[in-house]
Amino acid sequence: MKLAIGNDHTAVDLKNTIVEHLTQRGIEVINVGTDTTDSFDYPLSGLRVGRLVASGEADGGVLICGTGVGISLAANKVSGIRACVCSEPYSAAMSKRHNNANIIAFGARVVGDEMAKLIVDSWLDAEYEGGRHQRRVDLITEIEQTGAIEGA
Ligand code: RB5
Repeated sequence: MKLAIGNDHTAVDLKNTIVEHLTQRGIEVINVGTDTTDSFDYPLSGLRVGRLVASGEADGGVLICGTGVGISLAANKVSGIRACVCSEPYSAAMSKRHNNANIIAFGARVVGDEMAKLIVDSWLDAEYEGGRHQRRVDLITEIEQTGAIEGA
């Protein structure tokens, strides 16, 4: 498995911790985030990771900024991306099981190292359930592609 990871200046240390954690799990990591604490605009990392995931060059992505909010907003502008901000493992697992999240995001100013690892593991280890959830994920895709869905 290959994951893309991106971050801004608030999340360099946590990004490195997560890269090490993923590597220990045998996952190949493409790091497209900043490696310095100089001010860095998070949309760049969100777009880079979003593109790698949407193109299939990466099987999924991890995004970290101060809150996880801005960087996931940016990634979600890429067609086909479902980036979910999660601050605890339950939502992280459900984001895969029900929403088929292809990017997990969280905040370096919100969660600590160990919680971040749990969030990543919960998302990675969960499986998308399909079924009735596929219809809803398809509706989200329809909004993305057409700006509308029937009945709304
Ligand atoms: C940077 O100060 C901060 O705005 C950024 O890391 C992120 O939290 C934005 O959503």
